[in-house]
Amino acid sequence: SKTPNQLLVIFGSSGDLTQRKLIPSIFKLYCEGHLPENFGVLGVSRSEVSDEDFRKKVVLENQHISDTIGNFAKRDSFAEKIFYQALGDSYDLDYSPLRERIEALDKTMGCDGNCMFYLSVPPKIYETIASRLNEQGLSKESEGHRRLIVEKPFGYDLDTARELNKGLQDNFGESQIYRIDHYLGKETVQNLLVTRFSNSIFEPLWNRNYIRHVEITNAESVGVGKRGGYYDSAGALRDMFQNHLLQIISLVVMEPPIDAKAESIRNEKVKALKSLRIMTDPDILHQNTIRGQYLSGEIDGEQVLGYREESGVDPNSTTETYAAIKFFVDNWRWADIPFYVRTAKRMPTKVTEIVIHFKTPHHQLFKDSGVDSKDNKLIIRIQPNEGILVKFGVKVPGQGFKVERANLDFYYDDLKGTRVMDAYERLLLDAMQGDATLYARADEVEAAWEFVDPILNYWKTDKNVVTYGYSAGMWGPNNADELLEGDSYWRNPGKL
Ligand code: BG6
Repeated sequence: SKTPNQLLVIFGSSGDLTQRKLIPSIFKLYCEGHLPENFGVLGVSRSEVSDEDFRKKVVLENQHISDTIGNFAKRDSFAEKIFYQALGDSYDLDYSPLRERIEALDKTMGCDGNCMFYLSVPPKIYETIASRLNEQGLSKESEGHRRLIVEKPFGYDLDTARELNKGLQDNFGESQIYRIDHYLGKETVQNLLVTRFSNSIFEPLWNRNYIRHVEITNAESVGVGKRGGYYDSAGALRDMFQNHLLQIISLVVMEPPIDAKAESIRNEKVKALKSLRIMTDPDILHQNTIRGQYLSGEIDGEQVLGYREESGVDPNSTTETYAAIKFFVDNWRWADIPFYVRTAKRMPTKVTEIVIHFKTPHHQLFKDSGVDSKDNKLIIRIQPNEGILVKFGVKVPGQGFKVERANLDFYYDDLKGTRVMDAYERLLLDAMQGDATLYARADEVEAAWEFVDPILNYWKTDKNVVTYGYSAGMWGPNNADELLEGDSYWRNPGKL
Protein backbone atom coordinates (compact mmCIF):
# COMPACT_ATOMS: atom_id res chain seq x y z
CA SER A 1 0.00 0.00 0.00
CA LYS A 2 0.98 3.62 -0.41
CA THR A 3 3.03 5.35 2.25
CA PRO A 4 1.70 8.86 3.00
CA ASN A 5 4.01 11.85 2.96
CA GLN A 6 5.43 12.42 6.42
CA LEU A 7 8.07 13.63 8.78
CA LEU A 8 9.77 11.17 11.11
CA VAL A 9 11.02 12.77 14.32
CA ILE A 10 13.58 10.69 16.20
CA PHE A 11 14.09 11.53 19.88
CA GLY A 12 17.46 10.40 21.22
CA SER A 13 18.97 10.66 17.77
CA SER A 14 22.50 10.99 19.15
CA GLY A 15 22.23 7.42 20.41
CA ASP A 16 23.49 4.20 19.04
CA LEU A 17 20.17 2.86 17.72
CA THR A 18 19.69 5.78 15.32
CA GLN A 19 23.07 5.24 13.74
CA ARG A 20 23.11 1.47 13.87
CA LYS A 21 19.53 0.59 12.93
CA LEU A 22 17.05 3.38 12.31
CA ILE A 23 18.80 5.49 9.68
CA PRO A 24 20.27 2.48 7.80
CA SER A 25 16.79 0.93 7.67
CA ILE A 26 15.18 4.13 6.44
CA PHE A 27 17.94 4.46 3.87
CA LYS A 28 17.19 0.99 2.51
CA LEU A 29 13.50 1.81 2.33
CA TYR A 30 14.45 4.96 0.44
CA CYS A 31 16.69 3.11 -2.01
CA GLU A 32 14.01 0.56 -2.73
CA GLY A 33 11.37 3.21 -3.38
CA HIS A 34 9.20 2.55 -0.33
CA LEU A 35 9.34 6.08 1.04
CA PRO A 36 6.81 8.65 -0.10
CA GLU A 37 7.66 11.51 -2.39
CA ASN A 38 7.76 14.00 0.47
CA PHE A 39 9.60 12.62 3.41
CA GLY A 40 11.99 13.95 6.02
CA VAL A 41 13.73 12.85 9.17
CA LEU A 42 14.26 15.24 12.05
CA GLY A 43 16.77 14.05 14.64
CA VAL A 44 16.18 15.45 18.13
CA SER A 45 18.57 15.30 21.07
CA ARG A 46 19.79 17.62 23.79
CA SER A 47 23.13 18.76 22.37
CA GLU A 48 23.68 21.40 19.73
CA VAL A 49 24.67 19.88 16.36
CA SER A 50 24.26 21.37 12.89
CA ASP A 51 22.17 19.70 10.18
CA GLU A 52 25.39 19.14 8.21
CA ASP A 53 27.21 17.42 11.06
CA PHE A 54 24.21 15.28 11.84
CA ARG A 55 23.95 14.20 8.20
CA LYS A 56 27.62 13.29 8.21
CA LYS A 57 27.29 11.26 11.34
CA VAL A 58 24.17 9.31 10.54
CA VAL A 59 24.39 9.07 6.75
CA LEU A 60 27.51 10.16 4.90
CA GLU A 61 30.07 8.76 7.33
CA ASN A 62 27.92 6.12 8.98
CA GLN A 63 29.71 2.79 8.74
CA HIS A 64 26.45 0.93 9.34
CA ILE A 65 25.19 2.09 5.99
CA SER A 66 26.62 -0.50 3.68
CA ASP A 67 26.66 -0.68 -0.06
CA THR A 68 25.30 -4.21 -0.14
CA ILE A 69 22.40 -3.26 -2.33
CA GLY A 70 24.55 -0.99 -4.48
CA ASN A 71 22.95 2.26 -3.50
CA PHE A 72 25.78 4.44 -2.28
CA ALA A 73 24.99 6.78 -5.14
CA LYS A 74 21.75 7.70 -3.40
CA ARG A 75 23.40 8.76 -0.16
CA ASP A 76 23.69 12.43 -1.04
CA SER A 77 20.07 12.88 -2.04
CA PHE A 78 19.00 10.92 1.04
CA ALA A 79 21.14 13.09 3.31
CA GLU A 80 19.24 16.17 2.13
CA LYS A 81 16.13 14.78 3.75
CA ILE A 82 17.77 14.66 7.18
CA PHE A 83 17.60 17.50 9.70
CA TYR A 84 18.48 18.07 13.31
CA GLN A 85 16.99 20.02 16.20
CA ALA A 86 18.62 20.48 19.61
CA LEU A 87 16.31 20.55 22.60
CA GLY A 88 18.52 22.06 25.29
CA ASP A 89 19.64 20.72 28.65
CA SER A 90 16.81 18.30 29.12
CA TYR A 91 13.89 16.56 27.43
CA ASP A 92 11.59 18.25 29.91
CA LEU A 93 11.43 21.71 28.41
CA ASP A 94 9.04 23.83 26.47
CA TYR A 95 8.76 22.22 23.03
CA SER A 96 7.58 25.31 21.16
CA PRO A 97 10.90 25.68 19.24
CA LEU A 98 10.53 22.03 18.24
CA ARG A 99 6.94 22.55 17.16
CA GLU A 100 7.95 25.55 15.07
CA ARG A 101 10.70 23.53 13.39
CA ILE A 102 8.30 20.68 12.67
CA GLU A 103 5.76 23.08 11.20
CA ALA A 104 8.41 24.75 9.05
CA LEU A 105 9.75 21.45 7.74
CA ASP A 106 6.26 20.17 7.15
CA LYS A 107 5.58 23.18 4.97
CA THR A 108 8.82 23.19 2.98
CA MET A 109 8.82 19.45 2.46
CA GLY A 110 5.10 19.00 1.93
CA CYS A 111 4.50 16.39 4.60
CA ASP A 112 0.71 17.03 4.75
CA GLY A 113 0.78 17.45 8.53
CA ASN A 114 1.73 13.78 9.02
CA CYS A 115 4.25 13.20 11.72
CA MET A 116 5.63 10.16 13.48
CA PHE A 117 7.62 10.42 16.73
CA TYR A 118 10.12 7.68 17.45
CA LEU A 119 11.32 7.57 21.07
CA SER A 120 14.78 6.09 21.17
CA VAL A 121 15.39 7.32 24.72
CA PRO A 122 15.31 5.68 28.17
CA PRO A 123 11.72 4.67 29.02
CA LYS A 124 11.70 6.83 32.13
CA ILE A 125 11.32 9.90 29.93
CA TYR A 126 8.67 8.52 27.54
CA GLU A 127 5.88 10.10 29.47
CA THR A 128 7.62 13.46 29.73
CA ILE A 129 8.13 13.59 25.99
CA ALA A 130 4.58 12.47 25.27
CA SER A 131 3.14 15.15 27.51
CA ARG A 132 5.44 17.89 26.19
CA LEU A 133 4.38 16.98 22.65
CA ASN A 134 0.74 16.99 23.65
CA GLU A 135 1.15 20.37 25.34
CA GLN A 136 2.13 21.76 21.94
CA GLY A 137 -0.82 20.14 20.23
CA LEU A 138 1.54 17.79 18.43
CA SER A 139 -0.48 14.71 19.30
CA LYS A 140 -3.68 16.09 17.75
CA GLU A 141 -4.59 14.54 14.45
CA SER A 142 -6.37 17.61 13.09
CA GLU A 143 -4.50 17.74 9.77
CA GLY A 144 -2.56 14.57 9.35
CA HIS A 145 -1.68 11.52 11.39
CA ARG A 146 0.37 11.71 14.60
CA ARG A 147 1.99 8.53 15.83
CA LEU A 148 4.29 7.63 18.67
CA ILE A 149 6.68 4.68 18.48
CA VAL A 150 8.28 3.43 21.68
CA GLU A 151 11.06 0.94 22.21
CA LYS A 152 11.32 -1.72 24.88
CA PRO A 153 11.68 -2.22 27.79
CA PHE A 154 8.03 -1.51 28.24
CA GLY A 155 7.82 -1.42 32.01
CA TYR A 156 9.90 -3.16 34.62
CA ASP A 157 6.96 -5.15 35.97
CA LEU A 158 3.18 -5.11 35.74
CA ASP A 159 2.72 -1.96 37.83
CA THR A 160 5.27 0.11 35.95
CA ALA A 161 3.91 -1.14 32.60
CA ARG A 162 0.42 -0.02 33.63
CA GLU A 163 1.71 3.37 34.72
CA LEU A 164 3.57 3.78 31.47
CA ASN A 165 0.53 2.83 29.41
CA LYS A 166 -1.53 5.32 31.32
CA GLY A 167 1.12 8.04 31.00
CA LEU A 168 1.23 7.61 27.23
CA GLN A 169 -2.52 7.24 26.82
CA ASP A 170 -3.08 10.50 28.71
CA ASN A 171 -1.37 12.20 25.78
CA PHE A 172 -1.87 10.01 22.71
CA GLY A 173 -4.75 7.69 21.82
CA GLU A 174 -4.02 3.96 22.00
CA SER A 175 -4.40 3.70 18.23
CA GLN A 176 -1.62 6.29 17.84
CA ILE A 177 0.82 4.34 20.04
CA TYR A 178 3.12 1.79 18.41
CA ARG A 179 5.10 -0.40 20.84
CA ILE A 180 7.93 -1.92 18.90
CA ASP A 181 9.04 -5.51 19.42
CA HIS A 182 11.64 -6.23 16.82
CA TYR A 183 10.91 -9.96 16.87
CA LEU A 184 7.54 -9.25 15.30
CA GLY A 185 9.39 -7.68 12.39
CA LYS A 186 11.21 -10.91 11.66
CA GLU A 187 9.90 -12.57 8.52
CA THR A 188 9.82 -16.01 10.09
CA VAL A 189 7.81 -14.82 13.07
CA GLN A 190 5.18 -13.43 10.73
CA ASN A 191 5.35 -16.61 8.72
CA LEU A 192 4.08 -18.49 11.74
CA LEU A 193 0.65 -17.07 11.02
CA VAL A 194 0.86 -18.09 7.38
CA THR A 195 2.14 -21.57 8.19
CA ARG A 196 -0.70 -22.11 10.59
CA PHE A 197 -3.57 -20.42 8.84
CA SER A 198 -2.97 -20.75 5.13
CA ASN A 199 -2.26 -24.48 5.06
CA SER A 200 -4.70 -27.21 5.76
CA ILE A 201 -2.11 -29.76 6.83
CA PHE A 202 -0.87 -28.21 10.08
CA GLU A 203 -3.86 -26.64 11.79
CA PRO A 204 -5.86 -29.88 12.17
CA LEU A 205 -2.89 -31.25 14.12
CA TRP A 206 -2.23 -28.07 16.08
CA ASN A 207 -3.72 -29.15 19.37
CA ARG A 208 -3.43 -31.41 22.39
CA ASN A 209 -4.60 -34.48 20.47
CA TYR A 210 -1.50 -34.61 18.30
CA ILE A 211 1.10 -32.44 19.95
CA ARG A 212 3.07 -33.80 22.86
CA HIS A 213 4.91 -30.68 23.83
CA VAL A 214 6.12 -27.40 22.43
CA GLU A 215 9.70 -26.29 22.81
CA ILE A 216 11.07 -22.84 22.11
CA THR A 217 14.75 -22.08 22.26
CA ASN A 218 16.28 -18.67 22.00
CA ALA A 219 20.03 -18.96 22.29
CA GLU A 220 22.69 -16.36 21.72
CA SER A 221 26.41 -16.95 21.75
CA VAL A 222 27.13 -13.34 22.67
CA GLY A 223 27.43 -12.22 26.29
CA VAL A 224 26.12 -8.97 27.70
CA GLY A 225 28.77 -6.94 25.89
CA LYS A 226 28.71 -3.27 26.80
CA ARG A 227 25.21 -3.45 28.26
CA GLY A 228 26.21 -4.94 31.61
CA GLY A 229 24.72 -2.03 33.56
CA TYR A 230 21.29 -2.30 31.97
CA TYR A 231 21.28 -6.09 31.82
CA ASP A 232 22.23 -6.61 35.44
CA SER A 233 19.05 -4.92 36.59
CA ALA A 234 16.94 -6.67 33.94
CA GLY A 235 18.00 -10.31 33.47
CA ALA A 236 16.97 -12.76 30.76
CA LEU A 237 13.31 -12.97 31.77
CA ARG A 238 12.73 -9.24 31.38
CA ASP A 239 15.15 -8.76 28.50
CA MET A 240 13.88 -11.54 26.22
CA PHE A 241 11.04 -13.56 27.65
CA GLN A 242 8.49 -10.95 28.70
CA ASN A 243 8.54 -9.40 25.25
CA HIS A 244 10.02 -11.35 22.32
CA LEU A 245 9.33 -14.87 23.53
CA LEU A 246 5.83 -14.21 24.79
CA GLN A 247 5.09 -12.64 21.42
CA ILE A 248 6.22 -15.81 19.70
CA ILE A 249 4.32 -17.94 22.21
CA SER A 250 1.12 -15.99 21.62
CA LEU A 251 1.37 -16.66 17.87
CA VAL A 252 1.88 -20.38 18.48
CA VAL A 253 -0.96 -20.60 20.99
CA MET A 254 -3.58 -18.27 19.50
CA GLU A 255 -6.85 -19.31 17.90
CA PRO A 256 -7.49 -18.39 14.27
CA PRO A 257 -8.48 -14.71 14.05
CA ILE A 258 -11.68 -13.85 12.18
CA ASP A 259 -9.66 -11.88 9.61
CA ALA A 260 -6.13 -10.61 9.13
CA LYS A 261 -6.76 -7.10 10.47
CA ALA A 262 -4.53 -5.73 13.20
CA GLU A 263 -7.23 -5.68 15.85
CA SER A 264 -8.49 -9.18 15.09
CA ILE A 265 -5.00 -10.65 15.33
CA ARG A 266 -4.14 -8.69 18.44
CA ASN A 267 -7.42 -9.69 20.11
CA GLU A 268 -6.52 -13.34 19.65
CA LYS A 269 -2.99 -12.79 20.93
CA VAL A 270 -4.31 -11.19 24.09
CA LYS A 271 -6.69 -14.10 24.59
CA ALA A 272 -3.77 -16.49 24.13
CA LEU A 273 -1.64 -14.66 26.69
CA LYS A 274 -4.50 -14.62 29.14
CA SER A 275 -4.86 -18.37 28.83
CA LEU A 276 -1.32 -19.08 30.06
CA ARG A 277 -1.57 -20.61 33.50
CA ILE A 278 -0.18 -18.11 35.95
CA MET A 279 2.11 -19.79 38.47
CA THR A 280 2.03 -18.46 42.01
CA ASP A 281 2.59 -21.53 44.19
CA PRO A 282 6.28 -21.55 45.26
CA ASP A 283 6.49 -25.33 44.82
CA ILE A 284 5.26 -25.13 41.26
CA LEU A 285 7.55 -22.19 40.55
CA HIS A 286 10.41 -24.15 42.01
CA GLN A 287 9.73 -27.13 39.74
CA ASN A 288 8.94 -25.17 36.61
CA THR A 289 11.58 -22.48 36.43
CA ILE A 290 15.35 -22.75 36.15
CA ARG A 291 17.73 -19.86 36.18
CA GLY A 292 21.40 -19.82 35.36
CA GLN A 293 24.31 -17.47 34.91
CA TYR A 294 27.26 -17.95 32.61
CA LEU A 295 30.72 -18.58 33.96
CA SER A 296 33.88 -18.09 31.97
CA GLY A 297 34.34 -20.55 29.16
CA GLU A 298 35.03 -20.95 25.49
CA ILE A 299 33.03 -19.73 22.53
CA ASP A 300 34.30 -20.51 19.04
CA GLY A 301 37.69 -21.42 20.42
CA GLU A 302 38.01 -18.16 22.32
CA GLN A 303 38.18 -17.75 26.06
CA VAL A 304 35.42 -15.45 27.32
CA LEU A 305 34.70 -13.81 30.68
CA GLY A 306 32.13 -14.99 33.16
CA TYR A 307 29.07 -12.80 33.65
CA ARG A 308 30.20 -11.46 37.02
CA GLU A 309 33.46 -10.27 35.50
CA GLU A 310 31.74 -8.25 32.76
CA SER A 311 31.91 -4.49 32.99
CA GLY A 312 28.89 -2.86 34.62
CA VAL A 313 27.91 -6.09 36.38
CA ASP A 314 27.90 -6.46 40.16
CA PRO A 315 30.62 -9.02 41.05
CA ASN A 316 28.11 -10.74 43.35
CA SER A 317 25.23 -10.50 40.94
CA THR A 318 22.63 -13.27 40.85
CA THR A 319 20.95 -11.90 37.72
CA GLU A 320 19.99 -14.70 35.34
CA THR A 321 21.49 -14.93 31.87
CA TYR A 322 19.68 -18.22 31.35
CA ALA A 323 16.01 -18.82 32.01
CA ALA A 324 14.00 -21.92 31.26
CA ILE A 325 10.31 -22.03 32.04
CA LYS A 326 7.80 -24.81 31.81
CA PHE A 327 4.17 -23.80 31.71
CA PHE A 328 0.71 -24.88 30.63
CA VAL A 329 -1.99 -23.18 28.64
CA ASP A 330 -5.43 -23.47 30.14
CA ASN A 331 -7.75 -23.65 27.21
CA TRP A 332 -9.57 -26.19 25.06
CA ARG A 333 -6.79 -26.54 22.51
CA TRP A 334 -3.81 -26.89 24.80
CA ALA A 335 -4.98 -28.39 28.10
CA ASP A 336 -2.21 -30.46 29.78
CA ILE A 337 0.36 -29.94 27.02
CA PRO A 338 3.65 -28.67 28.45
CA PHE A 339 5.49 -25.75 26.89
CA TYR A 340 9.23 -25.57 27.50
CA VAL A 341 10.82 -22.25 26.71
CA ARG A 342 14.40 -21.19 27.31
CA THR A 343 16.46 -18.14 26.54
CA ALA A 344 20.11 -17.53 27.27
CA LYS A 345 23.34 -15.79 26.47
CA ARG A 346 26.71 -17.47 25.90
CA MET A 347 25.28 -20.63 24.37
CA PRO A 348 27.27 -22.63 21.81
CA THR A 349 25.46 -20.99 18.87
CA LYS A 350 22.92 -18.33 17.98
CA VAL A 351 19.59 -19.89 17.23
CA THR A 352 15.92 -19.20 17.76
CA GLU A 353 13.54 -21.97 16.90
CA ILE A 354 10.14 -23.34 17.73
CA VAL A 355 9.89 -27.10 17.84
CA ILE A 356 6.47 -28.70 17.78
CA HIS A 357 6.94 -32.24 19.07
CA PHE A 358 4.13 -34.49 17.88
CA LYS A 359 2.96 -37.56 19.73
CA THR A 360 4.26 -40.91 18.62
CA PRO A 361 1.85 -43.11 16.67
CA HIS A 362 -0.64 -44.81 18.96
CA HIS A 363 0.29 -48.24 17.71
CA GLN A 364 3.96 -49.11 17.16
CA LEU A 365 3.66 -51.32 14.09
CA PHE A 366 7.38 -51.60 13.43
CA LYS A 367 8.67 -51.96 16.93
CA ASP A 368 9.87 -55.52 16.34
CA SER A 369 12.23 -54.21 13.65
CA GLY A 370 14.01 -52.10 16.21
CA VAL A 371 12.41 -48.90 15.05
CA ASP A 372 12.76 -45.96 17.41
CA SER A 373 9.49 -44.39 18.35
CA LYS A 374 10.73 -40.82 18.20
CA ASP A 375 8.15 -38.20 17.57
CA ASN A 376 7.63 -36.21 14.41
CA LYS A 377 8.80 -32.68 14.74
CA LEU A 378 7.96 -29.46 13.01
CA ILE A 379 10.79 -26.99 13.41
CA ILE A 380 10.23 -23.36 12.67
CA ARG A 381 13.61 -21.71 12.55
CA ILE A 382 13.29 -18.03 13.31
CA GLN A 383 17.01 -17.37 12.86
CA PRO A 384 19.57 -17.88 11.45
CA ASN A 385 19.13 -19.95 8.31
CA GLU A 386 15.43 -19.10 8.43
CA GLY A 387 13.10 -21.84 7.36
CA ILE A 388 10.79 -24.69 8.24
CA LEU A 389 11.66 -28.35 8.66
CA VAL A 390 9.49 -31.37 9.15
CA LYS A 391 11.23 -34.39 10.64
CA PHE A 392 9.59 -37.64 9.72
CA GLY A 393 10.38 -41.33 9.46
CA VAL A 394 11.29 -43.04 6.20
CA LYS A 395 12.13 -46.64 5.53
CA VAL A 396 15.77 -47.50 5.14
CA PRO A 397 16.05 -49.35 1.82
CA GLY A 398 16.58 -53.07 2.16
CA GLN A 399 15.06 -55.90 4.08
CA GLY A 400 12.83 -55.38 7.09
CA PHE A 401 11.39 -52.11 8.31
CA LYS A 402 14.20 -50.08 9.67
CA VAL A 403 13.21 -46.43 9.91
CA GLU A 404 15.34 -43.34 9.73
CA ARG A 405 14.60 -39.66 10.30
CA ALA A 406 14.43 -37.54 7.17
CA ASN A 407 13.79 -33.83 6.65
CA LEU A 408 11.27 -32.07 4.49
CA ASP A 409 12.56 -28.57 4.48
CA PHE A 410 12.16 -25.09 3.15
CA TYR A 411 14.72 -22.32 3.62
CA TYR A 412 14.13 -18.66 2.91
CA ASP A 413 17.41 -18.56 1.06
CA ASP A 414 15.80 -20.76 -1.55
CA LEU A 415 13.54 -17.89 -2.53
CA LYS A 416 16.15 -16.43 -4.85
CA GLY A 417 15.80 -12.81 -5.75
CA THR A 418 13.73 -11.83 -2.72
CA ARG A 419 15.59 -9.80 -0.17
CA VAL A 420 14.23 -10.43 3.30
CA MET A 421 13.60 -7.05 4.90
CA ASP A 422 15.30 -6.46 8.19
CA ALA A 423 12.93 -6.22 11.18
CA TYR A 424 13.31 -2.46 11.61
CA GLU A 425 12.68 -1.76 7.93
CA ARG A 426 9.50 -3.76 8.00
CA LEU A 427 8.25 -2.29 11.26
CA LEU A 428 9.03 1.31 10.35
CA LEU A 429 7.29 0.96 7.01
CA ASP A 430 4.24 -0.58 8.65
CA ALA A 431 4.01 2.25 11.17
CA MET A 432 4.38 4.85 8.42
CA GLN A 433 1.45 3.20 6.69
CA GLY A 434 -0.58 2.98 9.89
CA ASP A 435 -0.53 -0.82 10.14
CA ALA A 436 -0.22 -1.80 13.80
CA THR A 437 -0.50 -5.57 13.34
CA LEU A 438 3.12 -6.13 14.25
CA TYR A 439 3.09 -3.79 17.22
CA ALA A 440 2.13 -4.71 20.77
CA ARG A 441 -1.07 -3.27 22.18
CA ALA A 442 -1.33 -2.03 25.78
CA ASP A 443 -3.42 -4.97 26.97
CA GLU A 444 -1.01 -7.41 25.31
CA VAL A 445 1.95 -5.97 27.16
CA GLU A 446 0.07 -6.05 30.44
CA ALA A 447 -1.10 -9.65 29.90
CA ALA A 448 2.53 -10.64 29.30
CA TRP A 449 3.60 -8.99 32.54
CA GLU A 450 0.79 -10.72 34.42
CA PHE A 451 2.39 -14.03 33.57
CA VAL A 452 5.97 -12.92 34.23
CA ASP A 453 5.50 -10.91 37.43
CA PRO A 454 4.93 -13.85 39.83
CA ILE A 455 8.02 -15.61 38.46
CA LEU A 456 10.14 -12.52 39.01
CA ASN A 457 8.68 -12.07 42.47
CA TYR A 458 9.41 -15.64 43.41
CA TRP A 459 12.98 -15.39 42.11
CA LYS A 460 13.51 -12.22 44.05
CA THR A 461 12.03 -13.26 47.37
CA ASP A 462 12.20 -17.03 47.84
CA LYS A 463 15.27 -18.32 49.65
CA ASN A 464 15.16 -21.65 47.79
CA VAL A 465 15.88 -20.05 44.45
CA VAL A 466 19.23 -21.08 42.98
CA THR A 467 21.14 -19.45 40.16
CA TYR A 468 23.10 -22.28 38.59
CA GLY A 469 26.40 -21.55 36.95
CA TYR A 470 27.06 -22.85 33.44
CA SER A 471 30.25 -22.55 31.47
CA ALA A 472 30.06 -20.20 28.51
CA GLY A 473 29.71 -22.32 25.39
CA MET A 474 27.50 -24.96 27.04
CA TRP A 475 23.74 -25.41 26.64
CA GLY A 476 23.04 -23.98 30.09
CA PRO A 477 22.91 -25.73 33.46
CA ASN A 478 22.28 -29.50 33.52
CA ASN A 479 19.48 -28.88 35.98
CA ALA A 480 17.39 -27.57 33.11
CA ASP A 481 16.70 -31.21 32.24
CA GLU A 482 14.79 -31.52 35.51
CA LEU A 483 12.10 -29.38 33.97
CA LEU A 484 11.31 -31.95 31.34
CA GLU A 485 8.86 -34.75 31.90
CA GLY A 486 8.50 -38.23 30.41
CA ASP A 487 10.75 -38.78 27.44
CA SER A 488 10.94 -35.11 26.48
CA TYR A 489 14.34 -33.62 25.74
CA TRP A 490 15.81 -30.29 24.68
CA ARG A 491 16.78 -30.17 21.04
CA ASN A 492 20.23 -28.66 20.95
CA PRO A 493 20.94 -27.82 17.33
CA GLY A 494 24.47 -27.96 16.03
CA LYS A 495 26.39 -24.94 14.80
CA LEU A 496 24.29 -23.10 12.22
C1 BG6 B 1 17.20 -7.48 22.50
C2 BG6 B 1 17.82 -7.82 23.81
O1 BG6 B 1 15.87 -7.08 22.67
O2 BG6 B 1 17.24 -8.62 21.65
C3 BG6 B 1 19.25 -8.30 23.63
O3 BG6 B 1 17.81 -6.68 24.65
C4 BG6 B 1 19.30 -9.42 22.64
O4 BG6 B 1 19.82 -8.69 24.86
C5 BG6 B 1 18.55 -9.07 21.36
O5 BG6 B 1 20.66 -9.68 22.33
C6 BG6 B 1 18.42 -10.26 20.45
O6 BG6 B 1 17.91 -9.89 19.20
P1 BG6 B 1 18.19 -10.76 17.91
O7 BG6 B 1 17.37 -10.10 16.85
O8 BG6 B 1 19.65 -10.72 17.65
O9 BG6 B 1 17.73 -12.15 18.23
